[in-house]
Amino acid sequence: MSCVIQLECTSCGATVPADRPQTVCPRDGGVLFARYDLASLKQSFNPGSLLNRPPNLWRYREVLPDAQPVTLGEGFTPLLPSREFAGVYLKDEGLNPTGSFKARGLSVAVTMAKAYGLKKLALPSAGNAASALAAYAAAAGIEAHVFMPRDVPLANRVECETYGAQVTLVDGLIGDCARLVSERKQKEGWFDASTLKEPFRLEGKKTMGYEVAEQLGWRLPQAIVYPCGGGVGLIGMWKAFDEMEALGWIGAERPRMIAVQAAGCRPIVEAWKAGRTTIEPWPNPETVAAGLRVPNPYGGSLILNILKHSRGAAVAVTDDEIMQALKHWARVEGVFAAPEGAASLAAYRQLCGQKFFRPNEAVVLFNTGAGLKYLEVIENYGKRPKAPATRHIGGIIGPY
Ligand SMILES: Cc1ncc(COP(=O)(O)O)c(C=O)c1O
Ligand SMILES: [Zn+2]
Repeated sequence: MSCVIQLECTSCGATVPADRPQTVCPRDGGVLFARYDLASLKQSFNPGSLLNRPPNLWRYREVLPDAQPVTLGEGFTPLLPSREFAGVYLKDEGLNPTGSFKARGLSVAVTMAKAYGLKKLALPSAGNAASALAAYAAAAGIEAHVFMPRDVPLANRVECETYGAQVTLVDGLIGDCARLVSERKQKEGWFDASTLKEPFRLEGKKTMGYEVAEQLGWRLPQAIVYPCGGGVGLIGMWKAFDEMEALGWIGAERPRMIAVQAAGCRPIVEAWKAGRTTIEPWPNPETVAAGLRVPNPYGGSLILNILKHSRGAAVAVTDDEIMQALKHWARVEGVFAAPEGAASLAAYRQLCGQKFFRPNEAVVLFNTGAGLKYLEVIENYGKRPKAPATRHIGGIIGPY
């Protein structure tokens, strides 16, 4: 039995009940974390409990909300030893349903939406979160309303339409999409499933942390290299490590957490370099990695805190480095990564050049999505001048 006892604000510590839909802390807008009765769970829940359970993220059901899962088989993706670098592993999230790690968060969020009896969900997305919402909402019989920048990768738009979601393309960035959701949700009766403003997407993503530990035989790697837009995967994995320690599964050791961003949108990297504890929005974000085009991540302070406590780093890589890494990974490892995921390899190489890692250190590089979803992006890269990033909403295509 799972034991979500309440949701707790990461900023002020206020608690709110989990028996009805919640968004952010009602006092200060802080991110809410689901809290479990880990002390009780510790008596009966241990790594042995997982033996013979299906290879999907719901194998960690005791530390997930207690509801009938809306599942498409997400999670338990391969942790592949690198063929190029000793001690390095590639966690291939591109093999999830809808081709990205976003499936994890949306499986758990839609599970809870269904349990709460919600009928209409909406979210702003760089693309893959929209695809995942569209798929899980279809499986749950819930309406999905997705808002994406007009230049979203083709696969995301076609997927969303095929799953029957209501698609709105916006002349603008993800922040503009978020504002539209926020302005319309009350009138339309939508529940806003924006990342970190809905507490259970994080719970789904944290399972990446449980999995890495389980796949390494309940040891943690020395470092995790992870591409960050909003950075919820990083925040979620850190939460998972704390939970595993409270359960007695691991000790106080932690991997060094490396946040990777695109040079053309690097608010976390700049804040990290300047030693700040908060993010300043990045002006005119532009990168081939659509999912990394997040100029003002809501959980920015949480991310910076994790980087500090893990003795990690924030690294920016250029689009050329990303595309070169994407091709290299495909040819050397046989993994066709999303540009966002390939950014992990580019960052790893940069850090090796700076002697950040010791020889043979266990390092997990996350590929967060499948390259197959970016065919036209990859095919056209470098072939035509990039369009300037649009700042303002000019017009809207779609049913609204
Ligand atoms: C493939 C891929 N990787 C990474 C990201 C960044 O995810 P997050 O915003 O949760 O950091 C995205 C977001 O859309 C994505 O689609
Ligand atoms: Zn609060």
